[in-house]
Amino acid sequence: MKYRFLVLLLVVFNHGYFAQDKEQTSCMSAKCHASMADVKYLHGPFAVKECNACHVPIKDQKHKFEEIKKPSDLCMNCHEPLQMKKVVHGPLKTGSCTACHSPHGSNQQFMLKKSQLSEMCMSCHKKEMFDRKNVHPPVMDGDCTVCHEPHSSDNEKLLVKAGNSLCYTCHTDFESGFANSKFIHKPASEKCTNCHDVHSSDFESMTLKETKELCYKCHAQIKQTVADAASKHSAVDEGKKCANCHSPHFSDVPKLLKKEPLDLCVSCHNDQLTTRNASLTNFSLLLQNNKDWHGPIQEKDCSGCHGVHGGKTDFRLLNKSYPNEFYTSYAKQKYELCFGCHQPTLAQDSITATLTNFRDGDKNLHFLHVNKRVKGRTCRACHETHASKREKHIREAVPFGKWQLPVNFEKNKDGGKCTPGCHAPKEYKRTLPHLD
Ligand code: HEC
Ligand code: HEC
Ligand code: HEC
Ligand code: HEC
Ligand code: HEC
Ligand code: HEC
Ligand code: HEC
Ligand code: HEC
Ligand code: HEC
Ligand code: HEC
Ligand code: HEC
Ligand code: HEC
Ligand code: HEC
Repeated sequence: MKYRFLVLLLVVFNHGYFAQDKEQTSCMSAKCHASMADVKYLHGPFAVKECNACHVPIKDQKHKFEEIKKPSDLCMNCHEPLQMKKVVHGPLKTGSCTACHSPHGSNQQFMLKKSQLSEMCMSCHKKEMFDRKNVHPPVMDGDCTVCHEPHSSDNEKLLVKAGNSLCYTCHTDFESGFANSKFIHKPASEKCTNCHDVHSSDFESMTLKETKELCYKCHAQIKQTVADAASKHSAVDEGKKCANCHSPHFSDVPKLLKKEPLDLCVSCHNDQLTTRNASLTNFSLLLQNNKDWHGPIQEKDCSGCHGVHGGKTDFRLLNKSYPNEFYTSYAKQKYELCFGCHQPTLAQDSITATLTNFRDGDKNLHFLHVNKRVKGRTCRACHETHASKREKHIREAVPFGKWQLPVNFEKNKDGGKCTPGCHAPKEYKRTLPHLD
């Protein structure tokens, strides 16, 4: 309103001059600059054909005007100086108002020069920043000013809001996620731009780097574990990589896991997965059909035995040694895995009344089967590792070539009995020496 009033004044004061100056009134005649007015938004003084407010005719020269050296000085003749905040945009410092605004009018609101705002910005800023494979939707829409002030701002990089609060104006679920989750990834609650480019990126989800490289920047320990692993887990390398299992932002599960550890593992190990040389157990079915779960699995802790980022041994991502074969010569250190939680003495002495319940009188049957110089049976000959139908995790059957030999283990108060395919029915009793 203020401006309109000003223009009105100008028009009134100049009226006499206008009437006499034919040249001035003819500026917009059909022959001359009429097409300049064929735009949607006309600048106030231009609309009322007040050309002289800015163009000063050179005395005694026909249709010659003084050169406009600094357009911004003109602007301040009518507009109050813009209130400049702490950070001032480059072109504003040099008074280049007309880098963005047409002094006459244009088809855009505020007389902006280009129909696509971003095109205008990119006439000075490098296109590459906005032109990589994945582009942030507001940038795609050319909407630079949802995030940047065009003139000046109190925030660095001319941002309309400081820090993550800018992002939360649209990503409201993140603001509530950080407020309501039990576990928060510090670098994310602190600064989204620790990991994301905000304009565009060659990587999925607009990250600054490929996911693993991104995480390794701060998690050198995990980088080392993965590099040193004797057996590799493809979950770390495929798909979303680290983000297959971890939320990079927040979670209600410790270690920022996307699900409870066991559910997480089973979410992939549900169908028949295959490694290079074997197809893997369907854990969803296994755990459903075998209700007697091994202790650590009752705790839902698969990483008690497996190195999820990569195994220290070359077998099944195990972090401690466990024989790969069905038969092997006995050595305590071959069973570091089991003996990490169970007493190694269970297979140490041939005679015992205490070290194991798998004994016939005082004859240690663990020793008998396992502790041999050749062809000692490994634990898997009798025990299931993860879950079983029978007590003591005794397996239903043992593989013999392609044949599954049933074991038919039955436990009783004083011992047990099996009727395996490999030898005649055998029974053991702890209280009475059992002779056969
Ligand atoms: C608010 C100030 C202002 C008013 C009012 C104004 N001009 Fe201009 N005009 C300029 C400036 C500044 C330039 C220099 C162009 C630039 O820097 O982008 C210019 C440039 C021009 C040019 C050179 C070609 C071009 O478009 O750059 C013509 C022709 C022109 N004006 C005609 C007119 C006419 C006719 C009127 C009145 C109907 C008028 N102007 C009113 C500020 C003004
Ligand atoms: C002769 C006085 C005058 C001069 C000189 C002048 N303006 Fe204006 N300007 C106006 C008037 C009057 C309006 C209309 C105000 C309204 O509609 O509220 C206006 C409107 C604008 C608008 C649109 C504002 C809105 O809210 O829609 C912009 C942008 C603008 N001027 C920029 C400039 C720039 C840049 C310059 C210098 C090149 C300039 N003006 C020079 C008088 C002037
Ligand atoms: C880098 C581009 C750019 C430059 C340079 C620029 N402006 Fe603007 N200006 C804009 C944009 C974009 C808008 C639209 C308003 C918005 O999105 O916040 C705008 C809006 C305006 C408005 C109307 C709304 C408001 O904020 O009052 C005026 C008046 C204005 N500019 C005057 C100026 C003047 C005077 C200069 C020079 C001192 C200038 N502008 C320099 C981009 C620019
Ligand atoms: C006329 C050229 C020009 C145009 C048009 C232009 N800029 Fe700039 N911009 C500059 C210059 C010059 C700088 C200062 C560069 C520096 O300090 O290194 C700058 C700096 C910036 C900065 C960084 C500010 C800081 O504090 O580091 C941002 C953000 C920015 N511009 C956004 C925009 C946006 C958004 C647009 C479009 C609305 C735009 N620019 C249009 C010339 C321009
Ligand atoms: C979603 C918000 C958002 C949008 C939309 C956006 N920017 Fe930015 N821009 C930012 C943030 C945040 C930064 C600061 C990045 C940082 O500190 O790492 C930035 C930085 C910049 C810089 C300074 C770069 C530097 O290295 O100093 C320029 C220039 C810039 N933006 C221009 C633009 C232009 C042009 C557009 C439109 C094509 C645009 N931005 C759209 C959020 C945005
Ligand atoms: C003006 C609204 C707006 C603002 C502000 C905004 N975003 Fe976005 N962003 C979107 C939209 C819309 C999408 C696409 C829908 C989605 O993935 O949620 C998106 C998607 C994303 C994506 C996923 C891109 C992909 O390829 O999957 C990331 C990462 C992102 N934004 C980060 C940020 C960051 C960081 C900020 C703050 C600097 C920010 N956003 C500010 C609107 C916005
Ligand atoms: C530690 C690095 C890191 C930080 C910091 C970070 N992100 Fe992400 N963000 C990622 C990764 C990695 C992905 C890809 C996740 C995936 O594919 O599941 C992602 C994906 C996204 C997505 C798209 C997928 C989704 O979950 O919706 C959005 C949107 C997003 N981030 C926004 C943000 C915002 C907003 C912030 C700041 C509050 C932020 N990010 C901070 C690493 C980060
Ligand atoms: C900018 C550095 C930085 C980046 C990048 C980063 N992190 Fe973190 N991360 C941290 C910090 C700091 C902590 C918090 C450590 C603490 O609280 O003691 C953390 C904690 C974690 C934790 C929780 C550890 C615990 O003991 O609870 C996990 C899991 C994690 N980050 C995974 C990731 C993943 C996955 C990525 C890649 C998408 C990633 N981080 C990228 C710095 C980073
Ligand atoms: C297959 C799922 C899975 C993948 C893929 C995965 N992690 Fe983990 N991560 C886990 C589990 C489960 C834990 C908690 C138990 C443990 O430390 O073994 C964990 C723990 C962590 C911790 C905390 C370590 C500590 O000592 O407390 C960090 C940091 C971490 N992971 C980062 C990463 C990074 C970086 C990647 C990608 C290179 C990655 N993770 C890939 C499942 C995964
Ligand atoms: C994103 C899917 C995914 C998740 C989640 C996942 N895995 Fe895997 N895992 C695989 C694939 C695919 C293979 C087969 C290819 C290979 O050897 O890496 C595999 C193989 C394995 C192997 C056998 C490795 C071998 O050499 O025989 C073990 C053991 C294993 N995973 C344990 C786990 C545990 C424990 C978890 C939970 C912490 C888990 N996995 C979570 C995809 C996943
Ligand atoms: C007590 C230690 C231990 C725990 C806890 C454990 N595993 Fe295992 N896992 C092993 C051993 C030992 C093997 C090798 C079994 C064999 O070859 O006889 C193995 C093999 C595997 C295999 C590949 C072999 C196959 O049969 O397909 C996968 C996949 C696997 N485990 C996943 C898991 C998952 C998922 C969990 C959590 C639900 C888990 N493990 C918990 C010790 C364990
Ligand atoms: C991370 C620790 C851990 C590891 C490693 C481990 N176990 Fe266990 N195991 C347990 C726990 C805990 C129980 C439950 C004990 C209970 O219920 O009193 C258990 C129970 C058993 C039982 C049944 C015992 C009973 O009294 O019901 C057998 C058999 C068994 N484990 C065999 C093995 C074998 C074979 C290995 C090596 C492949 C192994 N375990 C590795 C922790 C472990
Ligand atoms: C020939 C079959 C067989 C082999 C091989 C075998 N076990 Fe057992 N194990 C049993 C039987 C049967 C029981 C149940 C004893 C009872 O409670 O009556 C048992 C019980 C156990 C128990 C429960 C505690 C105890 O000693 O009574 C643990 C722990 C155990 N075995 C671990 C192992 C480990 C570790 C290995 C490999 C080093 C292994 N077993 C090899 C048959 C076997």
